[in-house]
Amino acid sequence: MSPLFVTLFFLRLSPLATAADFTQVFEWDEMDFEWPSVEKRAQALENGIYDPENILPLYMAAHGPRVFLSLEKYRKIPVTLVSLPTKSASSASPRLTPFPSWDMHEYTPWENCNKIEEAKGLEVDSVGRLWVLDEGSSNSNCHAKLLIFDSYNHKTVLIHQFPFRYSLYDLVLDETVDRTFAYITRGTENHIVVFNLESNKSWMVYMPRIMVHSIALSPKDHEPRKLYLSKYKSDELYSIPVAALHHGAGTTHPELIGFWNGIPKRLLIDHNGTMYAAFYWRNYISSWNTSQPFQEQLFHDFSEQEPSALTLALDENEILWMTIFNSDKKPCFTLSKVSDGAKADIVEDPPEHLLMHLFDTILICTILIIMVLLSLTIFWIILGKKMNIFLLQITNEG
Ligand SMILES: *[C@@H]1O[C@H](CO)[C@@H](O)[C@H](O)[C@H]1NC(C)=O
Ligand SMILES: *[C@@H]1O[C@H](CO)[C@@H](O)[C@H](O)[C@H]1NC(C)=O
Ligand SMILES: *[C@@H]1O[C@H](CO)[C@@H](O)[C@H](O)[C@H]1NC(C)=O
Repeated sequence: MSPLFVTLFFLRLSPLATAADFTQVFEWDEMDFEWPSVEKRAQALENGIYDPENILPLYMAAHGPRVFLSLEKYRKIPVTLVSLPTKSASSASPRLTPFPSWDMHEYTPWENCNKIEEAKGLEVDSVGRLWVLDEGSSNSNCHAKLLIFDSYNHKTVLIHQFPFRYSLYDLVLDETVDRTFAYITRGTENHIVVFNLESNKSWMVYMPRIMVHSIALSPKDHEPRKLYLSKYKSDELYSIPVAALHHGAGTTHPELIGFWNGIPKRLLIDHNGTMYAAFYWRNYISSWNTSQPFQEQLFHDFSEQEPSALTLALDENEILWMTIFNSDKKPCFTLSKVSDGAKADIVEDPPEHLLMHLFDTILICTILIIMVLLSLTIFWIILGKKMNIFLLQITNEG
């Protein structure tokens, strides 16, 4: 058995992984918003309601000439939903533009529940509407809600208030000819929230013993359509046919289909049925061809240490976009996309983190072998001495 095989077996990663390279589009040493005026920015800094060092992207959606980002809600962050152009005529990296407007973020506790308080998961549908989860905050009377905006004219299409407060995580959109559903996870709850656009109604489908964390949806033409879900703080991956979610509140039992090498933070599936997974505390992104039995493959290796934060999104042309945040180096923030034609390279050399495991494995095996040899030697020496004494006794007696 070759050592590489031992390692890949150890990590349960496929040796013939397809690897991807990303091309950097923009980089920033520090991000900033596009403020209405220089005075407004200075005022916000002075009043302690803004600190550019607190800008941290959480989720991304990509559509047309823009990506949308939701930002971590810190005390010194005035806006949690922004857009960025994916191309710029100037050489300077662009600023974050509040979406849909500054006004939609001017929220006062206990006043207007239709403003954006704390944006989380984002998706753009096939007609260019941006779906935004907003979990509200603890210091208000507002429930968690789903907002839908026209990404072209910035108009609000619909606001749906959920019957609960707090904790919204991620969403996927299931669009058929006559029906659109959103499947929403709350990160640590053992249910999925289902929203139907046509009836403007939502309900919960319970999954006993599974706190649903990240989710991904199989492509339209892969029938029956399936929802994949990962369990909170677990490497387990489950799936359920989406039909089980369409009949109002109820209970369903997802099927366990595989184990990752890490705990997935985000899952994503492209139109060919390839699933991408980004993990907590891992310096790589994995993939799996969902048309085949579960097999984790290495998709992209960050080689150094894992990024402090990462977002992933596919645009309408199936281009994979990624933002990376590194708290301890400059530039600390980058926007990249998968390089053309880079997707099908075969990984021949195991990347560094695999080598580290390889060395660990070799070291442990060597120590074990030495210990076994040492024990055997000691055993033989003791046995030899005993035999000598025995033979001596026999000789003496004889
Ligand atoms: C959708 O439902 C919400 C309740 O969650 C309600 O406030 C809103 O007015 C409804 N919108 C439409 C367009 O029916
Ligand atoms: C995905 O499918 C399209 C055809 O629909 C094909 O052109 C493309 O190369 C596929 N991508 C990968 C990564 O296999
Ligand atoms: C996934 O596997 C199926 C079935 O083996 C194959 O036809 C398809 O080309 C694979 N997709 C990709 C993107 O490699």
